[in-house]
Amino acid sequence: MMPKVSRTQSLLVLLAFISFVLLSSVNSRNAGITSTFIRSEWPSVDIPLDNDAFAVPKGHNAPQQVHITQGDYDGKAVIISWVTADEPGPSKVQYGTSTTRYDFFAEGTVRNYTFYKYKSGYIHHCLIDGLKYNTKYYYKIGSSDSSREFWFQTPPKIDPDAPYKFGIIGDLGQTYNSLSTLEHYMQSGGQTVLFVGDLSYADRYEYTDVDVGLRWDTWGRFVEQSTAYQPWIWSAGNHEIEYMPHMGEVIPFKSYLHRYTTPYMASKSSSPLWYAIRRASAHIIVLSSYSPFVKYTPQWMWLKEEFGRVDREKTPWLIILMHVPIYNSNEAHYMEGESIRAEFESWFIRYKVDVVFAGHVHAYERSYRISNIRYNVTSGDRYPVPDKLAPVYITVGDGGNQEGLAGRFRDPQPDYSAFREASYGHSTLEIKNRTHAIYHWNRNDDGKKVATDSFILHSQYWASNRRRKLKKHYLRSAVGHITTY
Ligand SMILES: [Fe+2]
Repeated sequence: MMPKVSRTQSLLVLLAFISFVLLSSVNSRNAGITSTFIRSEWPSVDIPLDNDAFAVPKGHNAPQQVHITQGDYDGKAVIISWVTADEPGPSKVQYGTSTTRYDFFAEGTVRNYTFYKYKSGYIHHCLIDGLKYNTKYYYKIGSSDSSREFWFQTPPKIDPDAPYKFGIIGDLGQTYNSLSTLEHYMQSGGQTVLFVGDLSYADRYEYTDVDVGLRWDTWGRFVEQSTAYQPWIWSAGNHEIEYMPHMGEVIPFKSYLHRYTTPYMASKSSSPLWYAIRRASAHIIVLSSYSPFVKYTPQWMWLKEEFGRVDREKTPWLIILMHVPIYNSNEAHYMEGESIRAEFESWFIRYKVDVVFAGHVHAYERSYRISNIRYNVTSGDRYPVPDKLAPVYITVGDGGNQEGLAGRFRDPQPDYSAFREASYGHSTLEIKNRTHAIYHWNRNDDGKKVATDSFILHSQYWASNRRRKLKKHYLRSAVGHITTY
């Protein structure tokens, strides 16, 4: 006959189990790595304006700077954007599932803007929706004699085990290093880019008459080889702000918001700067480091509600994008993420975010699963501690812009930093199913597909199941039968 277990005994067993889990999490940590790799890089200067990388497509008023992004919450719509230089021209997109027949069309909008002495081309945005999942669509834009054709692939339907490969790129700019990053990414097999802010670095030309605008145009043409064929999920960085009162330009994000749209209303956001999408098996939340985020602000209120909309049974992977990293041990931008950490980190733990991608620091860094939520000004540990409910924080600000690398890391490497290196590159996150994903960081210097930092990322979904099984196993072996709390 089984012995009866009192409530006190059961609680003691549970306490012992919790201590076991906490201690094992501390002991399982490894010392971090500061890579000693010496990079070989091109100079950090922008590619000249007349270079082929920025070639204008042939034909009068031909569409240029073509880019697409997800157009709804679940991946059945796409926003197609492009610029015409000479006159507005049509904002129509013809599309279909065959190159020879475009069965459908949609009408978009056109607008332009000025920035100091620069006058932009005509910027078109067109939403096409009601698409089928997992389907290749061909699309055609522009007038007949100078029209251009492209294609894209829609994602699989929302499903917890839908495999999908994301690329992660940040702080790209338009140097030869940027080109190397873009070319390496395009060989990776990535299906959608999660872009963590700082696109063109056009604001570096702020004391010129028109180059702030022209360098947005060159960047749009530079990335078109990827952005016309697969969605780039945009988030804004400090180089998008372009607050230049000495030039009479005081509307933040003016160029960026005219040129790059996001499906923010589909996630009930009030601003294109913060929003969410679901794609395959992932729920992706985009935050704005440069918009108000303290309690009661629109971004704070929206994020609280968006976390409530996350359904891990449908999208087990929860990914956050923001520009400024929360955990960064580089001298560059050190502590800049502290204010947003104080505001949001406890939510990241509560809602078991899998991974937070950021840019801003022009280097690569990956953290262990750690949190610093016990520190509350008057008490608690003032140092990040291992926390299995915490996300992994990854900084991928190493796209290769004209500001160069952030080569000075703080010494010694803090316990929370798992791997760091100042080289150019990009990352990929290849989701296999609801529990496992393969993560790679690819250094440009290593040729085509060499992963410099890679690991298998277990989802929090997997971890919570494992914890549940461990708990049952421990209780079963400790008291001979399962106690339910
Ligand atoms: Fe930045």
